[in-house]
Amino acid sequence: MVEERAPAGVSRPGDLPARVTIYEVGARDGLQNEDTVVPVDAKVEFIHRLLAAGLPVVEATSFVHPKWVPQLADAAELMTRLGDSGRDLPVLVPNERGLDRALELGCRHIAIFGSATETFAQRNLNSTLDEQFAMFEPTVTRARAAGLDVRAYVSMCFGDPWEGDVPIDQVVQVGKCLFDLGASQLSLGDTIGVGTAGHVSDLLTAFNEAGLPDDVLAVHFHDTYGQALANAYAALQHGVTTFDASAGGLGGCPYAESATGNLATEDLVWMLHGLGIHTGVDLPALVATSTWMAGVLGRPSPSRVVTALAPGTMPA
Ligand code: HMG
Ligand code: MG
Repeated sequence: MVEERAPAGVSRPGDLPARVTIYEVGARDGLQNEDTVVPVDAKVEFIHRLLAAGLPVVEATSFVHPKWVPQLADAAELMTRLGDSGRDLPVLVPNERGLDRALELGCRHIAIFGSATETFAQRNLNSTLDEQFAMFEPTVTRARAAGLDVRAYVSMCFGDPWEGDVPIDQVVQVGKCLFDLGASQLSLGDTIGVGTAGHVSDLLTAFNEAGLPDDVLAVHFHDTYGQALANAYAALQHGVTTFDASAGGLGGCPYAESATGNLATEDLVWMLHGLGIHTGVDLPALVATSTWMAGVLGRPSPSRVVTALAPGTMPA
C-alpha cells in the first residue's frame, strides 16, 4: 500500500508543494562507501527493488576510475545486467573516459560532480578547482550532443573538512559554472553533513539571486550531525522539490573522511507523507528493501524509520 496521506485531521501547510521527486542515491553514494564490495547480483536486486518501491529516479553507479572507487568497479557489468531498464538510470561520469564507457552501454542520463573547494577538487578528482571545468566542459558538450541529460553536483557546499567554512559566494560561483555547462539540474551537496537550516535557506536564496530557480535545484544532505531532515524541511519550505536521499541511510564519500550516510530515504518519506506530500514511494516496500540490504552488508540500517518499522530483523 502506498502511504501518502497526512494523518486524519492534519492538513498540508498551504505553502508546501503537493508532490516532490526523490532522487535515490543508495546504490551509488551508499555502496561506494562500503568497506566490502557488494556482489553485482545484490546490486541488481537492490536497484530492481528500489524501482519497484516507486522511487522515480535511481542513480545506479559511477563510471569513475576503478582504482579510485573499487566498490563500483563493476559498473559496466551492472549496467549490462540491468539492460533496457538501466538506460534511464543516471550514472556518475567525471570525464570523457567515463562518458565513453557510459555511451557504450547506452546510458541516457549522466551526472558530473564538481567541488566548491580547492582541496576537495584535488582529493576527489585529482584536479584543481579551475581544472575541473576543463575536464567537465567537453564531457558535457559531447553528452548533450549525443542527446543525454546531464545533472551536475557541487560538493562541499556547507563546509569542507580541510578548509572549514566555504563562502556562499564561492559555492554559487562554482555551482553556476557547472550548471551553465549544460546541466538540467544542480544538486547542492552537504558532503560532510555540517549544514544547518538557516544556511540552507541562505544558500538557496543566493542561487535564486544568481538566476537558478528552485525548479533546477536539488539538495543532497549527508546526516553526519543529524541535521539532514531539518535541512530538507528548510529546503522544502524554500521551494525545492527534488531531494536526494539514500535507502536505509547508506552513504558517504571515500575521499571525504568525515562524510557519513546520506539522509535516509525512509526518514524523508515518513516526513513527506506525514505532511500529505505525494512521493509515489511505497514505504513498507522500501523498508523491506533496506532491511534486506542491511542483511547483505551485515549491519543494521542507521535510519530511524527503518529501525522503527522493522525492529529486531537485523543481526546484533
Ligand atoms: P586521474 O588518475 O587523474 O586520471 O583520475 P587521468 O585522466 O590522469 O588518467 C589516468 C588513467 O586513468 C588513464 O589510464 C585513464 O584512461 C584512466 P592509462 O592511460 O593510465 O591506462 N581513467 C579512467 N578509467 C576508467 N574510467 C574513468 C577514467 N578516467 C581516467 N572515468 C579521475 C581522475 C577523475 C578519473 C579520478 O580522480 C576519479 O575517478 N575520481 C572519482 C572519485 C569519486 O568517485 N568520488 C566519489 C563520488 S563524488 C561524491 O560522492 C559526492 C556526491 O555524492 C555529492 C556530495 O555528497 O557532495 C556526488
Ligand atoms: Mg554524497
